[in-house]
Amino acid sequence: MLNWIERRTGFISMAQDFLTEDVPGGASYWYVFGSATLFAMILQITTGIFLTFWYAPSAATAWESTRAIYLNPFQHFVLSLHYWGSSAMIALVFLHLLQVAIFGAYKSPRELQWVVGVLLLLVTLVLGLTGYLLPWDMNAYFASQVSLNITGTAPIAGPFIQQLAQGGGVMGTETINRFFGLHVWLMPAALVALVGAHLAIFRHNGPAGPVVDDPRTLKKPGRFWPDQMFMDTVASFFVFLLIIFLSFISPPFLDQKADPTVALFVPYPAWYFLSLFGLLNLFPPQLDTVATIYIPTLFLLVVLAIPWIDRSMTRSFGSRKGVLWGLAIVTLVIVGLSMQSQFSIMGKQAAGPPALSEAQILAPAQAAATPAASSSSSASSATHGASVFSQNCSSCHGAQGQGMPGTFPPLANNPVVVGDPNNVINIMKNGLTGAIAVNGQTFNGTMPAWKSQLSTQNIADVITFIRSSLGNNHASAVTAAQVGK
Ligand code: HEC
Repeated sequence: MLNWIERRTGFISMAQDFLTEDVPGGASYWYVFGSATLFAMILQITTGIFLTFWYAPSAATAWESTRAIYLNPFQHFVLSLHYWGSSAMIALVFLHLLQVAIFGAYKSPRELQWVVGVLLLLVTLVLGLTGYLLPWDMNAYFASQVSLNITGTAPIAGPFIQQLAQGGGVMGTETINRFFGLHVWLMPAALVALVGAHLAIFRHNGPAGPVVDDPRTLKKPGRFWPDQMFMDTVASFFVFLLIIFLSFISPPFLDQKADPTVALFVPYPAWYFLSLFGLLNLFPPQLDTVATIYIPTLFLLVVLAIPWIDRSMTRSFGSRKGVLWGLAIVTLVIVGLSMQSQFSIMGKQAAGPPALSEAQILAPAQAAATPAASSSSSASSATHGASVFSQNCSSCHGAQGQGMPGTFPPLANNPVVVGDPNNVINIMKNGLTGAIAVNGQTFNGTMPAWKSQLSTQNIADVITFIRSSLGNNHASAVTAAQVGK
């Protein structure tokens, strides 16, 4: 049987040839990062294909279909695998690059394999960036807006690329479609092609092996099969277990649907972009492009050129002190910048309005799906009120009731909102104009009258919601009968 296949295809001898490759100096756990990255890539492609079955890319459906995924336990688990898989893949690409750099495995004749590897890192980062937008929640929207605006500040082609990626002057369905196309077609295609090239070059030159001055001192070569293959499998399996574990204990979080009118949202970048955020904090606003464009581009060029910068014939650690110190310093700076921006973002978020819990965000869907139950208890009228709020009030008062300085008063932690219910009912029904003061700040604008816009029940529910769910508000519910009076 095998002979029959072999004679017609040559597959068997190809597989044997592939597996019996020599590993100089024997198999080692140092070499598992590349194959573990490959494993993560396969996991991403598999879970990603499943997600396209459920996800609908457009401004009207992206968040809604993502929410549907969150509400289905199996789909949510696949999404969690994809979420943690992306972090794993990026971390493994970094580790793989770092290992190759420390071992000096980029040296002649492997320069092009290094270059293709750095390009793979870039493609992986673009995959992370484009995937970040797709849930179309607040964080996805505002973080992607930051990256699009940064693109727009690049010299020469910047504004053009921003327009192209954004699909017009503002972010919307076009943007989701462009990012979706990049995320599921162009970038994966580039990834698979580059991985193919990376492996082909690897086969051509063979593994670099351990760092020794004199190759003759090596013990006789080990075999890829079964020694290295075993270690690779152990490592990939460990990565897989870790991803499953994290998916269970810490699944991703869906924020409220993207609302462009909210002025005070503090976006949180993916962890692998935190260092760039930190770099941005170091520069005054007029020098932003130094941090966002020039330093990263220069850094990338230097990384690409490492094989030509470190030209010594030997790979031994002793004679490459400069390169190793450089690597250590750059790694420390990246980690330091990431931590610095992590703390600064946490500080800003703590100073901002408190976020809604995931239950509150996901709940309106369930309330809408069962309208009959929505007015039966004060808990469900608050959930129904949350959707009335996001449709009618959040455009002025902010998604979390944080308001906007000078014009729209905050509803979170506002004494009037949690005070006498009749007063709130009166404001809601008849509107409000003229200057008012909330917690020592003045606001002057016009609050529309809602009595002809919303049903009595909707007014009661939205008041119940703002009195009980925004910020630290914990005041009593309001019934339709009270509003009707
Ligand atoms: C078009 C913008 C806009 C919308 C939409 C809007 N509001 Fe207002 N709201 C205001 C402004 C402006 C004020 C302050 C009026 C003033 O300065 O006298 C206000 C005031 C209030 C106040 C009184 C706050 C205080 O401290 O006195 C409450 C309560 C309130 N709004 C609730 C709501 C609710 C609930 C909704 C949704 C049904 C809503 N608002 C929709 C603009 C708006």
